[in-house]
Amino acid sequence: MVQPDSTVLTDGRPSSPDATWWRQAVVYQIYPRSFADVDGDGLGDLAGITSRVPYLRDLGVQAVWLSPFYPSALADGGYDVDDYRDVDPRLGSLDDFDAMVAALHDAGIKVVVDIVPNHSSDRHSWFREALVSPPGSPERDRYIFRDGQGPDGSVPPSDWESLFGGPAWERVADGQWYLHMFAREQPDLNWDNADVRADFLRTLRFWSDRGVDGFRVDVAHGLAKDLTPPLAGTLLPDEPLAGGNHPLWDRDEVHDIYREWRSVFDEYDPPRTAVAEAWVHDLRRARYASPEGLGQAFNFDLLEAAWDAGAFRAVIAHNLAHAEQSGASSTWVLSNHDVVRHATRYGLPEVDGLPTKEVARRWLLTDGTEPAVDVDRGLRRARAATLLMLALPGSAYLYQGEELGLAEVPDLPAAAREDPIYFRTGGAERGRDGCRVPLPWQARAEGGESFGFGPGPAHLPQPAWFDRYAVDAELADPASTLRLYRQALALRRQLQGAESLEWLESGNPDVLAFARPGGWQCWTNFGPRPVTVPADLRAGLVLGSGVVDDDQLPPETTVWIA
Ligand code: NOJ
Repeated sequence: MVQPDSTVLTDGRPSSPDATWWRQAVVYQIYPRSFADVDGDGLGDLAGITSRVPYLRDLGVQAVWLSPFYPSALADGGYDVDDYRDVDPRLGSLDDFDAMVAALHDAGIKVVVDIVPNHSSDRHSWFREALVSPPGSPERDRYIFRDGQGPDGSVPPSDWESLFGGPAWERVADGQWYLHMFAREQPDLNWDNADVRADFLRTLRFWSDRGVDGFRVDVAHGLAKDLTPPLAGTLLPDEPLAGGNHPLWDRDEVHDIYREWRSVFDEYDPPRTAVAEAWVHDLRRARYASPEGLGQAFNFDLLEAAWDAGAFRAVIAHNLAHAEQSGASSTWVLSNHDVVRHATRYGLPEVDGLPTKEVARRWLLTDGTEPAVDVDRGLRRARAATLLMLALPGSAYLYQGEELGLAEVPDLPAAAREDPIYFRTGGAERGRDGCRVPLPWQARAEGGESFGFGPGPAHLPQPAWFDRYAVDAELADPASTLRLYRQALALRRQLQGAESLEWLESGNPDVLAFARPGGWQCWTNFGPRPVTVPADLRAGLVLGSGVVDDDQLPPETTVWIA
């Protein structure tokens, strides 16, 4: 397997040794508006992140990835960006950003920011200019405007649906329509337009010059589009078509954009890194992760895998092989701001024939009442899955709160909800607010305060049971999930070797085991009963996701043996 300790830049120059920091990094995703609120307006802020740098340092992460903190009306939690080169005044200023980066860097933590190139917000100056400019004008050409169908143009140009529900076209005052694959407040940009291309290069340099180490690229497979008429009648399959011919997703030309971006990343030493959020698979994913492209791509397969040793093994083997082909390291994700938290997913009963995300979706529709969640089992499995993930070669992306074992909040009051998915489907889908409820930092909430999130109530209300997961409570408990994550990350740094693993035959279909270079091993029992394994659990145990008190591996438990 590949394990370069330095890389060559696209122009042939060797880069600094620090250039490969991302290959096996643990990256902690911060959803800034829900992390820590210093000024008390109910929204987390950059000063809040700065104030918690010691927490991140003690947790032991190598990098943070910040979901958008740019000016935004929050039509989609900040993924509707008004200005790509500024900070939402409610979250702070560019000076606060610089102070945050300096504090993180002083603590040895890299900074990755989210770039949202598929769409801007409808409040972006370009979109406002487009609205007051005539059809066919250069201002409109930065977006995707089309005439409607029918004698008066009142029928949308195609019957495409937005991924958030409802039509993907919105009509403007003069009768034209614009495309928005997400919320109506998120008009899609036209990547055939030279201004759009040039402006994003400027944005990449703007943040790189401010010390940002890398970028997470939102909807990376969506930028290149082919809207050659006629659009009407063009069917949109759910999944991108293989072969790069889908009008909207994963078109081959998208890689021309990332080659240009790569040359900007390589202007810096160490080169800036990037990770693609691209909902594509296998070889098509490897193209986003290539060294001439973004360099790394998310793989969400572990997040979607059933709780099953065979399923996990297949996902791991498959992704390691594909990472090797692209030259990138693999990425691993169990939770993020778009999915039901894994401590809850694993506590839901398995339903034959239904993917776990569908089970979770249906559960959300009952406000979390049906079926009942087995909270203990969910947490037990989540801890085991996390320890397994952290033993893998490649980079692990953690989502804020998972280190507390935090569960999903399924029953937010309608009036508190924020996710456009909820609104665009008239409540028929509950959306993603339940994993975005602000973090509980302290178990005791005083007066109208939140659980240590800030001096006032949080923008998404924290339920009373959040006290159980509070940081201060978990720090005081040696068996807590937070203490487990801290131990695991510290050990991972010591044990980490080359990017490879060797499968160990466990002799039991419920048990998955592998060894890493240096000889340390990871064993997971997915089954419901303790099992005897051919490893010395007594002498070799360095860490367990649960209590190991004899020579058997307990149910739903991972151990590291060195
Ligand atoms: C993916 C992001 O993760 C999600 O939160 C957002 O809603 C969509 N992209 C649209 O930007």
